[in-house]
Amino acid sequence: MTTLKLPGLIDVHVHLREPGGEHKEDYASGTAAALAGGFTCVLDMPNTTPPTTDAERLQAKQALARSGARCDVGIFAGASTDNANSVGQLAGSACALKIYVNSTFGPLRVDNWTLLDQHIANWPATKPIVTHAEGDVLPRVLEIAHKHSQPLHVAHVATRLEIETIVAAKERGQQVTCEVTPHHLVLSRDDLPRLGPLGDVRPRLASADDRAALWHYLAYIDCVATDHAPHTLDEKHGPQVPPGLPGLETSLPLMLTAVDQGRLTLDRLIELMATAPARIFGLPPQAETFVEAEVGPRYQVTGTKLQTKCGWTPFEGVEVAGRVTKTVLRGATVFDGERVLALPGTGQVLYMAAS
Ligand code: DOR
Ligand code: ZN
Repeated sequence: MTTLKLPGLIDVHVHLREPGGEHKEDYASGTAAALAGGFTCVLDMPNTTPPTTDAERLQAKQALARSGARCDVGIFAGASTDNANSVGQLAGSACALKIYVNSTFGPLRVDNWTLLDQHIANWPATKPIVTHAEGDVLPRVLEIAHKHSQPLHVAHVATRLEIETIVAAKERGQQVTCEVTPHHLVLSRDDLPRLGPLGDVRPRLASADDRAALWHYLAYIDCVATDHAPHTLDEKHGPQVPPGLPGLETSLPLMLTAVDQGRLTLDRLIELMATAPARIFGLPPQAETFVEAEVGPRYQVTGTKLQTKCGWTPFEGVEVAGRVTKTVLRGATVFDGERVLALPGTGQVLYMAAS
């Protein structure tokens, strides 16, 4: 068994569901899951109810995070059909702008190229733009970002076409970065008969060849991000299956298992899950913050042991070889390997105005 000390991990893509989805997750439960998974800073997506599309909603969400969060949280502004001329005002208090080009859970979507052009042109260069742009729309989105000299971060790359599009853009010198999720690295559509609705996610689980392409081009991938998107089991087994999977507590175990198997180095894992996320999003350093983990002993993932409110995982029964044994945030032990010790409100909310 090897004992490791890692920096506090950063997850640039989580859905903590407040406000409006507290029955799925909230800041207190989602950030407990983060700390148990070795993440000390998470960036929270804007597709809540209501979506985070104006200053009032962003401030209200920051106040909820301020009282609930147990780790540090940055909050995304969301691009909508009617805020292309105003959302830029949120750049000082948001961690980044999220533009959904494809439809997914919730109503946020930029559904035409003129509007997308306006959003990309207007967003201030001080904070990143992140896009959910799958398959054949991705080249067009890259083209618009290039036209406006805007750096672009592409969320959850899932297919060979997408990663090859990004590799080509990087080789042309475009300022583009991207993330991949552990579920797209580990699962494929071959797992769908077994997973049923629990495997329903956007982007969808892809083919084994797509998954192989993600590993093949790992050198071109900047970050691993969970896209932690919890829904209740009742919702997942109901008539209208919402897409999304929880991932905060399984990502480091799965990625450490890949290290154990020789699929990537520990240095590269640290770059993908801490260094590059901090650099791309310009996040402040966290003093005296680290994670202890062990690699070697095998155990099976089980949903009932997780901190996330949803209480299930698509990796149920999967054997992993990595475990978080301690998380320390600003000198305090916030997870001891069994229990989350940080209280709600311990986390800092990034870019929040002093009240
Ligand atoms: O599967 C997904 N679920 N993909 C997304 O883009 C959104 C997410 C959610 O919020 O549930
Ligand atoms: Zn997402």
